[in-house]
Amino acid sequence: MCGIVGVTGNENATDILLDGLQQLEYRGYDSAGIYVNDQQGDGFLVKEKGRIADLRALVGPEVKGSTGIGHTRWATHGVPSVKNAHPHVSADGRFFLVHNGVIGNFSQLRDEYLGDVELKSDTDTEIIVQLIGKFAAEGMDTLAAFRKVLGLVDESSSYAFLLMDKEQPSKLFVAKNKSPLLLGVGDGFNVVCSDATAMLEQTHDFIELMDGEVVVVEPDKILIMDPAGNAVEREPFHIDMDPQAAKKGAYPYYMLKEIDEQPGVMRTLIQEYVNEDGSVKIDQELLDALSKADRLYIVAAGTSYHAGLVGKELFEKLAHIPTEVHVASEFAYNPPLLSEKPFFIFLTQSGETADSRQVLTQVNEWGYPSLTITNVANSTLSREATYTLLLHAGPEIAVASTKAYTAQIALEAILVKAYGEAKNIKAAKDFDVAGELTKVANGMQELVDEKGDIEKIAQDMFATTRNAFYIGRGVDYALAQEAALKLKEVSYVQTEGFASGELKHGTIALIEEGTPVVAIITDPKTAAHTRSNAQEVIARGANVLFISSRDVAAEGDQIILPEVDPLLSPLVSVVPTQLLAYYVSLQRGYDVDKPRNLAKSVTVE
Ligand code: F6R
Repeated sequence: MCGIVGVTGNENATDILLDGLQQLEYRGYDSAGIYVNDQQGDGFLVKEKGRIADLRALVGPEVKGSTGIGHTRWATHGVPSVKNAHPHVSADGRFFLVHNGVIGNFSQLRDEYLGDVELKSDTDTEIIVQLIGKFAAEGMDTLAAFRKVLGLVDESSSYAFLLMDKEQPSKLFVAKNKSPLLLGVGDGFNVVCSDATAMLEQTHDFIELMDGEVVVVEPDKILIMDPAGNAVEREPFHIDMDPQAAKKGAYPYYMLKEIDEQPGVMRTLIQEYVNEDGSVKIDQELLDALSKADRLYIVAAGTSYHAGLVGKELFEKLAHIPTEVHVASEFAYNPPLLSEKPFFIFLTQSGETADSRQVLTQVNEWGYPSLTITNVANSTLSREATYTLLLHAGPEIAVASTKAYTAQIALEAILVKAYGEAKNIKAAKDFDVAGELTKVANGMQELVDEKGDIEKIAQDMFATTRNAFYIGRGVDYALAQEAALKLKEVSYVQTEGFASGELKHGTIALIEEGTPVVAIITDPKTAAHTRSNAQEVIARGANVLFISSRDVAAEGDQIILPEVDPLLSPLVSVVPTQLLAYYVSLQRGYDVDKPRNLAKSVTVE
């Protein structure tokens, strides 16, 4: 949610910033801007509404320098526009600032300190740079002014700031609280970025920052200071990732690439977590901590929450542990009554979601153990939880999550195998997780290979509809919720995922002639019930698409799913629903990787 980049000590600063922003565009695409300084008295500020491509088109050959900062915006305060685009500038034109986060008390700061300043934007960020400018004009040095302003920002605020001072143009002043930020160590230069994928072309060595730290970055030196101003020594960690993994390659869109990658992700997870003899490689300490728990609390947002709903089934059926699944933003301020020995599992692709982090902070204060399951090593939630398991799904760039969802469910299955076995539960002992996930990988491959069928269904059933339903029972209901989110977020078709038996208790009133309803049927126990619920909507004019497992398929079902363990069926049934969302979006002419109003990595509450 907003991406920021900075570089100092490299003559290609402009290209490094633009390329870095391009990689971070998934974090927001309402506007973008850069400020570059050539160290000889010239600075260039370029801002544009819209995408990085729009900004790039405005950047002329004169925009050259060795130090600079850049920003791609997801609007919080102030509409998307050039005037609200970052970097923001102090009234005297000396300071330039980019910001990811939200300043909770910006209006109070404005009223208290800036009555005499004519503001140029509607943003909370501008208040910060104007305050720095004001305190510097009153005689403070830049670092002192920056620190003073950080001290005025209230507790509800979040920020990753990159500040430049025209009078010390080779320095980047950096601060972080709650919003993600990494320093990157280059060869003779240094970079700063919201996430490592932005700078993998420049370096693979990164230094993490802690909340409250302030940093001065120069071409050949990095000074990290703790909140009290003491210098902190911290070694870089190495990220062993091919920058190409974060590129589209021959694919037209990341979303399609990431859907296609899912069979491979299943195989990688087996390699990473399952031994040749079928036993699972999970840290014994984590299993011991889990076995002491009397209840699991899965906390997550959006698609990750939906992966948690499937996880509940796995944990309860194979490890016999009561499991609750909670939406993070709700849990944060209205926690349920907890059991005596709770164990918390945070599911998060990015590891940075502010709503989930808010809960983890609370859980840490309570002193309960926690596990983060994430795709991003060293991410905030991974650092702050007691334990971490990595999804190994490779970078997920499309805003709509696909492979992270299936990786989360697969890793929950692997964990539950080890956990249930440790508890000596027969169902877990009998569960051949590597064999089952291999079947899933093969089944996913069959489905992605037949995407032409889905493209046609998208055209025939969804070309003009304004609303749609997914229905199912049990894990099919969990899947229905994810499938509905996917369709609505990329195609703007208002879609609900419904428990099929619940439809007739009110919502069926929305069914009209031609309303598309997708029935997901994978569980033999409930197949007949869901079919009769489908008949109820057909009787009222609905246009029903049946997606069913081979073992429960009926004549006329349009999409037949390969057979897998019933608890893992969402791993295959989700694939046609992801493809359907993708094609409906494309057929309507939308940018499927960057749906309107959204951003990946939602780092504000
Ligand atoms: C939807 C989607 C979001 C995320 C949610 C949580 O396609 O991607 O709903 O799942 O914002 O993000 P993470 O998993 O990074 O915590």
